[in-house]
Amino acid sequence: TQTHSLLAMWCSRMALRQLQRIAVAPLNIAGGLTSNVQREMSTLSRVYVTRQIPPDGLKILRESGQVQFELWDSDDVPVPRKELLQKVKGVDALLCVLTEKIDAELLDAAGPNLKVLSTMSVGFDHISLEEVKKRGIRVGYTPDVLTDSVAELTVALLLTTSRRLIEATHEAKTGGWGTWRTLWLCGYELANSTVGILGLGRIGVAIAERLAPFKVKKFIYTDIAPRPELASAINAEYVSFDELAKQSDFLTVCCALTPETKEICNKNLFSKMKNTSIFINTSRGGVVNQEDLYEALSTGQIAGAGLDVTVPEPLPTNHPLFTLKNCVILPHIASASYTTRNAMSALAANNLLLGLRGEPMIKELKL
Ligand code: DGY
Repeated sequence: TQTHSLLAMWCSRMALRQLQRIAVAPLNIAGGLTSNVQREMSTLSRVYVTRQIPPDGLKILRESGQVQFELWDSDDVPVPRKELLQKVKGVDALLCVLTEKIDAELLDAAGPNLKVLSTMSVGFDHISLEEVKKRGIRVGYTPDVLTDSVAELTVALLLTTSRRLIEATHEAKTGGWGTWRTLWLCGYELANSTVGILGLGRIGVAIAERLAPFKVKKFIYTDIAPRPELASAINAEYVSFDELAKQSDFLTVCCALTPETKEICNKNLFSKMKNTSIFINTSRGGVVNQEDLYEALSTGQIAGAGLDVTVPEPLPTNHPLFTLKNCVILPHIASASYTTRNAMSALAANNLLLGLRGEPMIKELKL
């Protein structure tokens, strides 16, 4: 009997620990554990989290006392689609990252309980807005908190590309470093240059603010319409798309991926750029026609490109763009600082909890 009750106690403890890991209610273990847990759990909203997100967000969910959540417990592999379709069944809210396609199939699999979608990203091109709107689902996202990190990385990528740092370290390491040479590994400098921004938003402004001390001569931008309130902060001039292509010594893409901007950076743009220009993209790979970019880079139509985003992601290692010395490719890391990723995860968690309470989210998409 003693062995039995010890075993029962051990089992209850293990069960409790398991529940505390995935669920979030302040569990009351006094009295009959099972019935109390069941009572508390039944009043909590059900949430599925599609990724092992950074700790700040998980802590907020765990300590909210508002939700029970299940988590795809990996950051290295995304949840397989089949599993995701199973896991979302009947949930009240979904916290996702940009690798999950949120479309009609997924929303149907989730069913009518799903009222809140919270994505840990500023981009929302993975979400079918039409489908979520149709179902009255509210959508939270994570702008602003990543602006500094993305702007910082964009500057790093721009300088890496224009001053040929990857080529240079390769040469130094592999014996290409001979005598000091007058034109070897020369690149292009920011001083006295014109920097063009395609799609002026918070991130474009933050990039310009960081580039200004490098003695940039002029900032220009294009967008659907002039954005004087943002442009005035960086003294940027509104120009047409063609003028942006023609005048920019550095052209940095900061627009969202929408049906209108899909492959907007194509032959038409590259053919108008100077052959000394540098093209930088830290927004979404889908805004670029990669075949046209390859052509522009390999024929010397433009001087170089720095990409943090591609189609697909990951870009296959045998992709032609990887063969080019004048193309620097990063694996979508613009927001990847510990501070920013934690802030994104916390904002995504808070948006979700607010949405479930029927309150305005901190950052909510207007659908
Ligand atoms: C986003 O949030 O959309 C970025 O691409 C990743 O941080």
